[in-house]
Amino acid sequence: MNRKYRHTVIAGNWKMNLLASDVKAYATELRSLIPDFHKWCDAIACVPFTSLPAAIRAFRTTRVMIGAQNMNQHKSGAYTGEVSGAQLKDLGVRYVIIGHSERRELFGETDDIVNKKVLAAIQQQLRPIICVGESLGQRETGVTNDLVAMQVKSALNGVDALKLRSAIIAYEPIWAIGSGLTATPQDAQDVCCEIRAVIRSLYGARTARAIPVLYGGSMNEKNAHDLLAQPDIDGGLIGGASLKPELFAAIIKAANQ
Ligand code: 13P
Repeated sequence: MNRKYRHTVIAGNWKMNLLASDVKAYATELRSLIPDFHKWCDAIACVPFTSLPAAIRAFRTTRVMIGAQNMNQHKSGAYTGEVSGAQLKDLGVRYVIIGHSERRELFGETDDIVNKKVLAAIQQQLRPIICVGESLGQRETGVTNDLVAMQVKSALNGVDALKLRSAIIAYEPIWAIGSGLTATPQDAQDVCCEIRAVIRSLYGARTARAIPVLYGGSMNEKNAHDLLAQPDIDGGLIGGASLKPELFAAIIKAANQ
């Protein structure tokens, strides 16, 4: 983390877990565990679409901001089952995860679609949390940095420097997601540093310094401290460990270093 230039961001990705009726108890417990964390980090809960209204209500009196996990790239129209950025914005959603590897792998999201979603999110003044990361095979063949650089460039195609200031990049090695395997702090730092170098080459040093780059992939209350101690890791995107308020709170506390 480098607090001089950037906010620390701890974001939970609940994926397809928990019910709308679970949200109130979660929010109450989180608030009781860490009443004053907003002094050291921005906390975000990216909840399922069905829980968004409940989350916006339940977290209203806390500093936890609410994000969605996906959106459609179109403004409106005949896209059965999809949700637009305007509809998220209308609910009071502030953030949206774009291009998570589960969406790329299971739902056919290409780099081009990810780029269109990033542009659509920014147009709605939603802050995109843009996910990039390599598979195990790609890591083993040594293409991680090139691949991640390409994903970042593609996702940001057509995004101007001023608008980019609202974006967050999350480096999530696919092999570390939900597997219990975590990238070593140094490996995660190396890729996050490369991501910042790509942003620097596209937008200049000042913008690159300002963009939070998160790590995601089996981050938990035990490894968070060491990961967050790296200079280019500005926070975490947390799946499994964000589902329990006590674990999420412990990670938020680890960001207070
Ligand atoms: P886990 O923390 O469960 O590995 O999930 C990471 C992730 O995919 C967050 O978006």
